[in-house]
Amino acid sequence: MDNVRAAITAVGHYLPEDILTNADLEKMVDTSDEWILSRTGIRERRILKDPTKATSFMATNAALELIQKRGLNPEEIDLIIVATVTPDMFFPATGCIVAAQIGATNAWAYDISAACSGFLFALSTGARFIESGKHKKVLVIGADKMSSIVDYTDRTTCVLFGDGAGCVLLEADSEGYGIQDSIEHSDGSMWDALCMLGGGSLHPPSPITLEKRLHHLHQEGPPVFKAAVKGMADVAADVMERNNLTGDDVRFLVPHQANLRIIDATARRMGVTMDKVMLNIERYGNTTAGTIPLCLADWESKLRKGDNLVLAAFGGGFTWGASWVKWAYDGDGN
Ligand code: UT7
Repeated sequence: MDNVRAAITAVGHYLPEDILTNADLEKMVDTSDEWILSRTGIRERRILKDPTKATSFMATNAALELIQKRGLNPEEIDLIIVATVTPDMFFPATGCIVAAQIGATNAWAYDISAACSGFLFALSTGARFIESGKHKKVLVIGADKMSSIVDYTDRTTCVLFGDGAGCVLLEADSEGYGIQDSIEHSDGSMWDALCMLGGGSLHPPSPITLEKRLHHLHQEGPPVFKAAVKGMADVAADVMERNNLTGDDVRFLVPHQANLRIIDATARRMGVTMDKVMLNIERYGNTTAGTIPLCLADWESKLRKGDNLVLAAFGGGFTWGASWVKWAYDGDGN
């Protein structure tokens, strides 16, 4: 099976309708549109306001869009992997709920927890099942309802995140398209720089965890920023170098959308000009596992068969990685 690669053959997405603007946040915490825009590149983000709806709702809708666009029978899906740090609940896996809701009755499903690198880690994992020949159709979903864990009294984090979901279908390709190479890393030595302390086996829910606000996302911005700039730029450059790719060969950089300054540093390191960078951070903020597939969905109509894409992410854990993808279809449907 040496010449079989996993190709992305369809894309789907879901974004909640409600918009939280920088002006809205100015009324909630001591911040300003100018600070948020200049430090992060974010103007607004989407929020899933309905308290009865969770990550599986967004993931399901993204999957249903893909199924409908592609004319896919859900019973053909062999495996569903959901990357998320905001699962509907600890268990069962959100993937199982999504599988039931879309009618993927022949699929097995599970979740991957790798924060902002979750989608890339899930993509690499799903690709192995295609390359091995074990599965024909794998659905990889990145979905997060970040508003469920963001502390809207903490100005250092609440301005950054939004809700959303995106997904891709992986199928076998033997003509040279698909995922060509991937590099993944993790380093837990700074795990507490970006985490949610409460609710797990270390700090089970209690009046004290509630009082200390441990059920919210915690981030030490500057050390994460420093590590992200180096990690994302290095790993994107590494995947290019070991495949002899230059900036000119790359049609698009598809970066995790955490901070425009981190993306800018990555693009410069790769020798890729900003007109070849997928950017939607301005409209959606950081949707954690959702950012990369949401970019693919937004840019799908511009993508052509054979385009070289470099996907890159950095996030909590720390986790980081990059993938070189040769796009497998004309995105405008021609
Ligand atoms: O997606 C997973 C990985 N996550 C990331 O990649 C995020 C990495 N970190 C970052 O993007 C940046 O560190 C932040 C955007 C979070 C913060 O930007 P920064 O340039 O690192 O700012 P800072 O934390 O050094 O804060 C600078 C100042 C501080 O005030 P003083 O101490 O200089 O008086 C902060 O208190 O800005 C203040 N500040 C704010 N001011 C207005 C922090 N947050 C805000 C805010 N509005 N929302």
